[in-house]
Amino acid sequence: MSAVRVGVTKDFAHGVAVKVDVNGVAVAVVRIDETLYAIADRCSHANISLSEGEVHCGKKELECWKHGSAFSLETGAPNTFPATQPVAVFSVSTNGDEVFVTRRAENGEAS
Ligand code: FES
Repeated sequence: MSAVRVGVTKDFAHGVAVKVDVNGVAVAVVRIDETLYAIADRCSHANISLSEGEVHCGKKELECWKHGSAFSLETGAPNTFPATQPVAVFSVSTNGDEVFVTRRAENGEAS
């Protein structure tokens, strides 16, 4: 699947989760220092938008506000209960100031 332009680098402030649309899929993009991460914007515990939660920059996690599961921005795995299932991880790339998100093959999409 091809990369989808989701904005420019200044749209993504350090330590803030931003909800973007990637071909109809909600994705939470997070910048920590100069690195951009992207995970599915739906908690695996219930239908809650992870981008409304809190970013833990030091642990590279995004915490669901509903019950507190914190998901790794690198692997999508929940590091804390009650969620037990990972969320999908997306690839992020830049071209100049433009930011692109791509679904990964392991998320069930052909690349
Ligand atoms: S809905 Fe996210 S931890 Fe329960």
